[in-house]
Amino acid sequence: MIKKLDTLIDALKAIAEPTRIRILALCRTGELSVNELCDILGQSQPRISRHLKLLVDAGVLEKIPEGNSVFHKLSKLSEGGEIAKQISALLPESDEALLKDNERRKLIKDERANNAAAYFRDNAARWDTLRAMHVDETEVENLILKLVPPEQSGDLLDIGTGTGRMLELYADGAKSREGIDQSKSMLAIARSNLENSGNQNCHVRQGDMYQLPYADNSFDTVLIHQVLHFTDDPARAVAEASRVLRAGGKILIVDFAPHDIEKLRSEHAHRRLGFPPSEVNDWLIAANLKILKMQDLIGDPLTVSLWFAEKSI
Ligand SMILES: C[S@@+](CC[C@H](N)C(=O)[O-])C[C@H]1O[C@@H](n2cnc3c(N)ncnc32)[C@H](O)[C@@H]1O
Repeated sequence: MIKKLDTLIDALKAIAEPTRIRILALCRTGELSVNELCDILGQSQPRISRHLKLLVDAGVLEKIPEGNSVFHKLSKLSEGGEIAKQISALLPESDEALLKDNERRKLIKDERANNAAAYFRDNAARWDTLRAMHVDETEVENLILKLVPPEQSGDLLDIGTGTGRMLELYADGAKSREGIDQSKSMLAIARSNLENSGNQNCHVRQGDMYQLPYADNSFDTVLIHQVLHFTDDPARAVAEASRVLRAGGKILIVDFAPHDIEKLRSEHAHRRLGFPPSEVNDWLIAANLKILKMQDLIGDPLTVSLWFAEKSI
C-alpha cells in the first residue's frame, strides 16, 4: 500500500512519457545498462540518461553503478518500484513499439550470451590458470568444505561447473554429483579432468542454468561458484537453483565482492563487477532461501564473497 499521495503522483508523472514507459517495460524483466538502453531505444546517451534520472528521482528505478557502467532495474528500495510493477501489468503487450523494444532487447541479450560463450570456448583450456590469478583458491575451497562438509552434501549439483573443479572437491563424501554448464568446450575439459582424477561416478551435462534439466526438489546441495557475474539475470538463476533444491537443502554462492576492475568486463566477459551483499540477500529471500552465513575472504585486488543459505520448508 502506498503511504503518500505525493509518492504516487511523482511516480505517475515520471512514467507518463513515451520513452520512459518503454524504459519501464524493458527494466521490468531484469537490469539493463545505460548503453544497452541506448542501443535498444535508438536514442543518444544524454537523452536516455536524462530519462533515467527522472525515473530514479521518482523512486521508480534504482541504479547500480559499477565501474564504467550503470545498470538500472525497478526499484526495490522505494514505493515507486511497486507502482511501476503495477503499471507494468497494464502495459499493452501487443503494442508495436513495445514488441520492437523486446525484440531488440533479445538480440542484444543473445549477442552478449554469444560473446560470453565464445570467451569460454576460447579460454576453456587455460581456465584453471585464470581462476588461480583471481584469488587464493585453497583458502576459498577450504571455506567451501567447512560450510558444506562433503559427508553432508548428499545429492549435489554444481551450476556452471566449468572445468569441474567443484565436483572434484566433493569426490569423497557426496552421494551423487551432477555438473551443468552451457559450454561444450568447458565440459570437454571437465570430463577429461574428472576421468583423470578417478571421478567416474559423477556426471556433467550441457544445460542452461535458467532452465535446469532437473525436476523440482532433486538436490540436497547446490553450488554456484564464480558464475553469476557472467549472467544478466542472476536473481532468476538463483530462483531456478532453489526450485531444484529440496526443503532444508543448502545453497552456496561464491562470487566477487564489488570491485572496479573494468578489464574483467572488457577482456574477460564479466557482466557484473561483483555483487554487494544486500543484492544477493534480496535474491535469496525472493527464492525462499534463508541466509545462514555470509563471509568475505579479503583479497587484493579481488575479494571473494560467500553466501550460504538453506531452502525454507
Ligand atoms: C568462471 S566459470 C566457473 C566455473 C566453475 N564453477 C569454477 O569455479 O571453476 C563460469 C562458468 O559458467 C558457465 N555458464 C555461464 N552462463 C551459463 C548458463 N546460462 N548456464 C550454464 N552455465 C553457464 C560458463 O560456461 C563457465 O563454464
